[in-house]
Formats: sequence, structure tokens, C-alpha cells
Amino acid sequence: MAFQLPSLPYEHSALEPYIDTLTMEIHHGKHHQAYVDNLNKAIAGTTNENKSLEELVANAGAISAAVRNNGGGHWNHSFFWKSLSPAGGEAPEGLLADDINATFGSFDAFKTQFNTAATSRFGSGWAWLIRKRADYLNAYWKVVDWKQASQLYTDNK
Ligand SMILES: [Fe+2]
Repeated sequence: MAFQLPSLPYEHSALEPYIDTLTMEIHHGKHHQAYVDNLNKAIAGTTNENKSLEELVANAGAISAAVRNNGGGHWNHSFFWKSLSPAGGEAPEGLLADDINATFGSFDAFKTQFNTAATSRFGSGWAWLIRKRADYLNAYWKVVDWKQASQLYTDNK
């Protein structure tokens, strides 16, 4: 069974004005779709053909670069879409908030370190993404789904 692009859990326009519709359409419909298509090509006719995405990614060190990179891209993007919400933003609460404060000193200090890590990470399209990336990070904080993040954090603690 070939992997398929998951639908977004909201409309492409749902994160406006922080993340615009065209960015979401390109990021989901073209970038993420390309990871799915290239993953399917990379596993076709191999022993990886019937494995789950989690099985592939869990064995990242033992699979080909094409499967690792495209499988990772598919998994990361699938996770990323679920980490955003039109009702997101604000700040985490509960255990996640407590541990962020204990680890980073404050939520703002965490955001600063997160933004620094993200803007200094190598990635494709680096030259033109540098200017976009800072704006995108600022927009990200407006739509991040802290309820979802807290649930995942608590469930896996
Ligand atoms: Fe992406």
C-alpha cells in the first residue's frame, strides 16, 4: 500500500493571517506531496514496501538515504500539520509549561532558543528561506497547538 498525502486537519486558509493560504498550499500540496511520492518510488519493489512509516523511520540508520530522507520528510510534515491550529498560539499550560520554565527559565527564553536553533539550521532553499524563516517563526507562535503539544508531552512522559 503506497503512502498517501494526509489531508490537513483544517483548511489551507485556516492559519491566516499568520501563515497564508498560498504558503500552505505549496508546503502541503507540493513539498509534502513530493516527500510522499519520492518515498513511494524509493520503496517500490523492496523489502520496505509493506512497512509502516513508523517502522521505516525507527530504523533510519539501516535504510537508504532516499527512504530515510523522504520518509523523515513525510513523518515530520504529518506531525507538523497536527502541531498547528487556528485556535493555537498563546502559551502551554500544565506539565509542559512547568518543564519548559524549569528547563529554559521562561517560555520567552524557550522561544528565543527555539527560534535561534531553527534559523541556524541548514536546510534546502537556504538563501531565500533565511528572510522568510524569521517571519514564519514569528507566525508559528500564533498558531502552535499547545493543547496538542501538552497531550503528547504528558502521554509520553
Ligand atoms: Fe516543510
